[in-house]
Amino acid sequence: MSLSLEANSYGNLLLEGNCTTCHHKTKNISAPSLKVIVTRYKEAFAKKEDFVSYMSTWVVKPKEETSIMLDMISKYELMPELGYDKDTLEIISSYLYDMNFDEEK
Ligand code: HEC
Repeated sequence: MSLSLEANSYGNLLLEGNCTTCHHKTKNISAPSLKVIVTRYKEAFAKKEDFVSYMSTWVVKPKEETSIMLDMISKYELMPELGYDKDTLEIISSYLYDMNFDEEK
């Protein structure tokens, strides 16, 4: 219980510090919103394990060939490489999978 809570607030911290500069929770501004990304990823990867694995691998090295959101690349250009390690990105991806967007405005 306390462990998962800790992992959760750590995931939130990492997300806020590193991703929300470009990805707003629900609005598409300079990049697709987190809500759009999570919705698309869940359509492609129903299992949390697959979702987390694909997303964290992609963010380590964003590539057009492996993108599942090509329309977003033509709209916003390819996401830059940020230099985070895969472990950090797995925590962020796992947090994103569990995020509840219905409460966000
Ligand atoms: C400098 C701005 C910027 C930052 C910072 C950023 N992103 Fe992105 N991201 C983008 C843009 C623009 C796109 C849309 C184009 C694309 O898919 O490459 C995108 C797309 C994505 C996608 C869709 C991948 C696909 O299949 O195309 C994922 C997943 C993602 N971002 C995750 C993250 C995570 C997690 C972080 C924080 C660690 C993050 N992004 C930080 C700009 C950013």
